Order: sequence, then C-alpha cells, then structure tokens
Amino acid sequence: MLEDCFCENIKSVFEKQMPNTPVFVYEFIDSTNNEAKKIAMSENGFKNAFFIAKKQTAGRGRKGRNFISDEGGLYISYLMHPDLLPKDAIKLTLFAAVCLCEVIEEMTNLSPSIKWVNDILIDEKKVAGILTEGSFDEKLEKFEYAIVGIGVNLRKVNFPSELSKIASDIETISGKSPDIYEFALKLASKLQNFENSETSDYMHEYRRRSVALGKIVKVISADEEYFAEAISIDEDGSLIVVSKGNEQKCLISGEISIKL
Ligand code: BTN
Repeated sequence: MLEDCFCENIKSVFEKQMPNTPVFVYEFIDSTNNEAKKIAMSENGFKNAFFIAKKQTAGRGRKGRNFISDEGGLYISYLMHPDLLPKDAIKLTLFAAVCLCEVIEEMTNLSPSIKWVNDILIDEKKVAGILTEGSFDEKLEKFEYAIVGIGVNLRKVNFPSELSKIASDIETISGKSPDIYEFALKLASKLQNFENSETSDYMHEYRRRSVALGKIVKVISADEEYFAEAISIDEDGSLIVVSKGNEQKCLISGEISIKL
C-alpha cells in the first residue's frame, strides 16, 4: 500500500475487515488516548471504537512519561466498555500485552517478552508500551469507558542517547519493519476478543513471556526501594516478590515499578 495514504489505507482495511467497529484515523493528533476519551465523553453513543494515528504530538506513557511517537510507529487506542470492576482493569493491560506479543511474533521472526506490567521487550529493549485509562461510574458500578492505548516502534526510531540503551524498534532488531496496516488489523482483531477470553488462558501466556519471574528485581514504590525475587504473577495481575529476610509482598501495578 502507498505510504502517503495512511488514513485512507487504514480506513479501507478496517472497514472491510471490521465493518461493525468504527475507526478514527489521524495524520497527526496529540494522543489517541486523549481523542478516544473525548469521543467517549461525547454523546455519540459509540460502544467500541479504534483510534489510530500516523504520528502523535503528545504521546503519553505511564506515570506521565512522554512516549516518542514519530511517523513509522503504530499508535492505536481501543475504546471499550468492559464489564469489569476497577480492581480488575489491569486485565486489559495484561490481555493487550499478550495480543501485542502474539502479533509481533506472527509478523516477524522475533519472540517478545513482557516486563511487568506494560512493557514489551525484544532483546531486553523496550519496543512497545501500553497505557490503559478509564473512568468508573461508582453509582452505576460500571466503566463509563476504558481505553487501551498501545504504541509500537515498528520502524527505526532515533532515540535520545539515554533512551537508546533501553529502547529499540522492530526494524532495527529484525532488519525489516512489518506492514503497518496488517499489524494494526491483526492487533485490533485480537483486542476485540477481550470479553470472550478466559483470564487463565492469557495469564498463562503472560507468565510464560514474563522476564521478571525467577529474577531479582528492584522494586521502586513511592516510599521505598528494595531488591526482591519475583516469584509469581497472580491471576489478578499482581506481582509476588520475596524480599531479603523472606518477606513476601504482593505488588499492585500503578504503585510500583520494577527494574531487572
Ligand atoms: C508506556 O510505555 O508507558 C505506555 C505507552 C503507551 C503509548 C500509547 S501510543 C497510543 C496511546 N496514546 C498515547 O498517548 N499513549 C498510548
């Protein structure tokens, strides 16, 4: 497909293969998560929809970090209304991480791993990340909306030198960049299956790909930092670690980070 027709190409592929799910496509936008949120809060009544940009001018990562979003990457947000409680919203991130690894594996000769909770690594370098956001209506006890935002470095990215030690892209690692349209479509089709998927199935795959398990990790929380062995990931997505002195702790994503 022609590169300069990004929006038309995405639209034509999605409308043909997923005619029942709206897709909003942008040459550039601040953040597809922001755009998905705007649409979710408007009165148009979309249930689920995809938001895809060729480039983001203010791509966001977890903890308010910037996510480099130049042309050549895939920036996609999936707006949904999952039947979940807030404590289970982490499942959206876990599921998306598995979907992402599967698509990378299907389209390249690479075997990605997952760094708890939302980083996709190849050869120990981050090539993709997931930012899940949402709003839960306490009165109605349901999500007003949830947005799973995914950024994948498909083509060569010129990272600042401090980031090039920890981040990379699929083209640099594999020598070629997967077709962005096929990648987007495969990923979107998998994401749509969240509600029909068994937690135990994707958790099995999440654990299998997890780089932290069995390793000593550095736990970084708001009030302390310590080294511990990561021993398991619970079905609810929490990471179980054993610190020196044999103290077992259950880490909830959002509160801590780990360094391998
Ligand atoms: C992270 O690495 O901490 C998460 C990165 C998530 C980036 C994606 S790109 C599409 C969506 N829009 C954003 O602004 N962020 C997510």
